[in-house]
Amino acid sequence: MEKFYVTTPIYYVNDVPHIGHAYTTVAADILARFNRLSGKAVFFLTGTDEHGQKVQKAAQQRGLSPKEHADQMVVNFKNLWKKLNISNDAFIRTTDEEHKKVVQEVLMKLYEKGEIVKRPYRGWYCTPDERFWTDKEIEDGRCPDCGRPVEEIEEDNYFFLMSKYQDALLQYIEKNPGYILPETRKNEVIGFLKSNPLGDLCISRPKKRLSWGVELPFDRDYVTYVWFDALVNYYSATKYLAPRYEGEIDWWPANHHIVGKDILTTHAVYWSTMLMALGMPLPENIFAHGWWTVEGRKMSKSLGNVVDPFEVVDTYGADPFRYFLFREVTFGLDGDFSVDAIVGRINSELANDLGNLLSRTVSMARKYFKEGLPEPRQREEELASLALGVYEKLREHLSVLAYHRALDEIWSLVNYINKYIDTNQPWALAKEPEKRGRLATVLYSSLEGLRFIALYLYPFMPEASERMLKTIGVDEPVKAGIYRELKWGGLKSGLVLSKPEPLFPRIEKKKKQEDTEKVEGEKQKDNLISIDEFARVELRVGKVLEAERIEGSSKLIKLQVDVGEKRQIVAGIGKAYSPEELLGKNVVVVFNLKPARLMGVESQGMLLAAGGEKSLSIVTLEKDIAPGTRVK
Ligand code: MSP
Repeated sequence: MEKFYVTTPIYYVNDVPHIGHAYTTVAADILARFNRLSGKAVFFLTGTDEHGQKVQKAAQQRGLSPKEHADQMVVNFKNLWKKLNISNDAFIRTTDEEHKKVVQEVLMKLYEKGEIVKRPYRGWYCTPDERFWTDKEIEDGRCPDCGRPVEEIEEDNYFFLMSKYQDALLQYIEKNPGYILPETRKNEVIGFLKSNPLGDLCISRPKKRLSWGVELPFDRDYVTYVWFDALVNYYSATKYLAPRYEGEIDWWPANHHIVGKDILTTHAVYWSTMLMALGMPLPENIFAHGWWTVEGRKMSKSLGNVVDPFEVVDTYGADPFRYFLFREVTFGLDGDFSVDAIVGRINSELANDLGNLLSRTVSMARKYFKEGLPEPRQREEELASLALGVYEKLREHLSVLAYHRALDEIWSLVNYINKYIDTNQPWALAKEPEKRGRLATVLYSSLEGLRFIALYLYPFMPEASERMLKTIGVDEPVKAGIYRELKWGGLKSGLVLSKPEPLFPRIEKKKKQEDTEKVEGEKQKDNLISIDEFARVELRVGKVLEAERIEGSSKLIKLQVDVGEKRQIVAGIGKAYSPEELLGKNVVVVFNLKPARLMGVESQGMLLAAGGEKSLSIVTLEKDIAPGTRVK
């Protein structure tokens, strides 16, 4: 039996699950379900990443042991997977004893092969992110990733000799075009490997700093770096969690690791080189998907706009949510989640195109053939071959995770049948007794086409698919391998169908608007400040008198600004502006900000600006207003 092994990242237990977690897991679920129906032996793995500094700290704050903390948090993920109809075969936790044992075996093997060595190490350590940065990488004494202060640390550590695999990895990626997808991400990794020397990877943490991890088997004073432990899950799970099928199955290597774009490097570079060093085969594919924004904005706890998948499922249902995630955006690109977008898709595609097709076909069959639907007189060749042909297209598209294309194919069948009914006009045929045979053919063929649609939609919307099948009188469950037995004419004749329930009820605009208004209102209530609070911030018009770069920093510019008095201000705008272009500009300055030192230079205020590093724009005044004037 051919095997199919698909994984999601293992999620940090500290977070509560959000739309991003749901996205990757549903993506893997669709592949798993499709491949089961295609007759393969499937192993679909998801789980949680439970070691490391953040978990240790969060547990401490809650007065729990890290394991107790993880035991509680893991339930959120397990519940969500139930709610979303996720069919994972196993759930791995990095605190599983069996997993830890495999991590230690892997570490020992690499150590004995000389792939791991001990070295003194000095660097800047960002404790919350658990990573070291070099002198060049830190920005003004802060972590370039999260902006928090870093500490300088000198200690002995163990290193995985990753650098020596740079060429081999580059060659591997270039020779195997499907290894990293999508193409644009693959090119980014290639570009990175071509232009940067790959360093060795520090894979240990002294226990005195971090005890919550897997102990190094060759040095009990250290635990392993959380990523080293986490990545091994994909392999360790094959040893103790894989489902049993008849005959021995070699589950490794995996067919697809599905990950978000933010964790592509750890997979494409760390994991690939670890496997090379172990002499193990690499997975067939690593696919990096994009990120979701919400109503056009980055999703973040501080904005309070994190999409809670439990709520989305309660409002719209699991199937419409699953459908939306893969219909709205090409897998691999970023997408935006909005109430309008999901309601629009539910109403037009699910309720209208698909739901109406089912209900009108079943209603006509009930009305015109009360005694049961007779055998069709002829095979509708065009419809039959379209329906049968969709399978091969789905297989092709899903093999490269082109979910939107797969849905396009299914929809071509939906649209075809809608048109077929409009053209054949069963309601007109029903008026002419001699056309009863033709009427039976048209209705049977439409229902048979709907059977194919239901089966093809099963990986995307398993519940809706089963309801569709029941509605057209198919009682057998959708079983593994069913796609291998697809044949036109499988629908039983003579069936008396029952009254159809709406497959996807339309969502009324009014209700939707009320809901949005309610949510918006609540959000605003939380964010409102009083005029007095605003008045505490003293903003003033300033004129830039002098500007120069601060040595050793690409970002910082030292300005002398007239704000009614002369002030020195250090601004992080050097990637978007040269000192010369700032001279004479009318800017807006926070006048009553506590002074701070940046790279040793005092800053007595702050400029207002918006945007990212390179696309940054400072706030200026449209008219010439005297320096020192208050902005209010
Ligand atoms: N524990 C590591 C993975 C180890 S795998 C060996 C980890 N965990 S995580 O909980 O942070 O993972 C989150 C996953 O959710 C990542 O794949 C990430 O890309 C994804 N997303 C987080 N926010 C997201 C969006 N806003 N949109 C889509 N996916 C996002 O990383």
